Amino acid sequence: MKTFVASIVAAVAFIPATLAVQANPLPIPQHIEWGHSGPIAIDHHLSFHAPKNAILSDAIKRTTKLIWKEKYEPVVVQGPPANYTPFPTLSQSKRGVKHTLKKIDVVVTDLKADLQAGVDESYTLDIPAGNTGVIKAKTVWGALHALSTLEQLVISDGGSGLEIEEPVSIKDSPKFIHRGVMLDTGRNFLPVEAILRQIDALAWAKLNVFHWHIDDSQSWPIDIKAHPEMTKDAYSKKFTYSHADVKKIISYAKARGVRVIPEIDMPGHSSSGWKQIDPKIVACADSWWSNDVWSLHTAVEPNPGQLDILYPGTYKAIESVYNELSGIFSDDYFHVGFDEVHQGCYNFSSLVRDYFKADPSRDYTDLGQYFIDHALPIFQNKKDRRVIMWEDVITAIGGVTAKHVPKNVIMQTWNNGPNNTKLLTSQGYDVIVSSSDFYYLDCGHGGWVTNDPRYNVNYSPALDASISDAFAADPSTAYSPTTYNYGGAGGSWCAPYKTWQRIYDYDITVGLTAAEAKHVLGGETPLWAEQNDATTVDSKLWPRAAALAESLWSGNRDASGKKRVNQATFRILEFRERLVGRGVGAAPLQPRYCLKHPHACDLMYDQNAVIA
Ligand SMILES: *[C@@H]1O[C@H](CO)[C@@H](O)[C@H](O)[C@H]1NC(C)=O
Ligand SMILES: *[C@@H]1O[C@H](CO)[C@@H](O)[C@H](O)[C@H]1NC(C)=O
Repeated sequence: MKTFVASIVAAVAFIPATLAVQANPLPIPQHIEWGHSGPIAIDHHLSFHAPKNAILSDAIKRTTKLIWKEKYEPVVVQGPPANYTPFPTLSQSKRGVKHTLKKIDVVVTDLKADLQAGVDESYTLDIPAGNTGVIKAKTVWGALHALSTLEQLVISDGGSGLEIEEPVSIKDSPKFIHRGVMLDTGRNFLPVEAILRQIDALAWAKLNVFHWHIDDSQSWPIDIKAHPEMTKDAYSKKFTYSHADVKKIISYAKARGVRVIPEIDMPGHSSSGWKQIDPKIVACADSWWSNDVWSLHTAVEPNPGQLDILYPGTYKAIESVYNELSGIFSDDYFHVGFDEVHQGCYNFSSLVRDYFKADPSRDYTDLGQYFIDHALPIFQNKKDRRVIMWEDVITAIGGVTAKHVPKNVIMQTWNNGPNNTKLLTSQGYDVIVSSSDFYYLDCGHGGWVTNDPRYNVNYSPALDASISDAFAADPSTAYSPTTYNYGGAGGSWCAPYKTWQRIYDYDITVGLTAAEAKHVLGGETPLWAEQNDATTVDSKLWPRAAALAESLWSGNRDASGKKRVNQATFRILEFRERLVGRGVGAAPLQPRYCLKHPHACDLMYDQNAVIA
């Protein structure tokens, strides 16, 4: 009995002093302090006194419209109260409204700061016991975050009005400058409206980057005026983005404080579009990707195709495509890929075969270096340009890598969890973390290649002569007879499904020295689209991307340094309810019963169980 009581006391120690308040904004601000003098009504004519700025005034209009349309009624009762019992209910003692919020003064010191990497996003928001609130920010982008917080503080007063439950004072800024989501429109297309809907949600969660993996070997969906023939490889005319579409997406995102970073993946994952310009640009486009005969294996997934690194026409095409797109996209960052460049594909290039024959001391790092030396000058076409590449250019074992990649290239890491973050930052590269072990949202939905004998649980590849080659080449992973659900339970290469808790808990600077940690710009949660399109994007992205959002904005630990995923549960549940109400089909995380009965669905009674 004694230990039982002790655990209750310990549990209470971790509860923030905001028990009577149901509003619970995500991400939780770095500093939030609630008062105790009672609710503040929101005047029907609440006005904002803000400096003249088109983005700011549009955002204020959106906020005003949203809070009255939403009239949000919290579902989750934040808990537990001090007298914790397993099934707490919070008695909301409504006190009389003493004040009405009539006006919010908005002060922005630098109206000119552009939305680029590292721009100041900090803000303060004060709603005192009185009739005037204050938002202060260095930039418009910080002021937008203040508005998104405000939207999550306002709730229904139970009648036809709105209120903020107590006076509140917030001082907030992000832990990491780069907080993003990657969407892939090459494997399956996403209509413009579906992308805009995700951008809305990114902004509500204070995520500030939409990394747009535009094309892949399977399709080329974007108009290139210099090469109109490229969209012959779009899935259809309907499945293309015009320049006007792209500009609309960029300005919509910018109006919400979200940067759009385009990616054209080169020289790997390249076939569609490019081969329309000139078939000689693409090596191995007509090969079978071949898992049956390993020596003919040319790609990690169908369909094969990589830019021929030694063909001069390749660089002419790259230059015209890149110059056109980098003229439309306004961000200083441009992602140029270098994901998974496969050696076997270049067996199909006579230029590469001759190159190796001419000098037997050459290897694939020379070939990779040739690409870097010829393509980087094209990519570096303006002073503030920063190029991003997938880490494969440095780390891909058995792939095409380069010997020397300039340190101003940003590396996006996805392999080996913290190990590669350490490896790259210790070499002096700035890094964006999108570990496939923690952040890949497409994992755990089963494999997608067809005619795959591994779905048959009675099947043993060791007994199957037709793929014994492949089994010999890679017995440890894909073809191991002991892993029918290859990659772990869930039957995809990167199973299991990444739960929001797994995303939330991942420390992207774990094991780094202070100097190395400075090179971590932030993270991105990628949603590759082999099994994703407009029908699934909302529910695969949300609310899991919100877990990333809080983890990268204010961190995944409380003031005492302990993991706070348990407290974040209430926020993410509430945030998901807001998303659904605002038109984003975010997936349910629990039976609604659990939302209404905080802690009733905990696995452990001990509130410290997962805080280690
Ligand atoms: C490429 O060609 C070489 C020489 O013919 C062969 O040994 C190798 O297995 C082929 N495939 C790959 C993936 O390198
Ligand atoms: C990271 O490196 C350690 C030490 O070499 C190793 O034990 C571990 O398996 C690696 N983790 C991953 C995910 O590669």
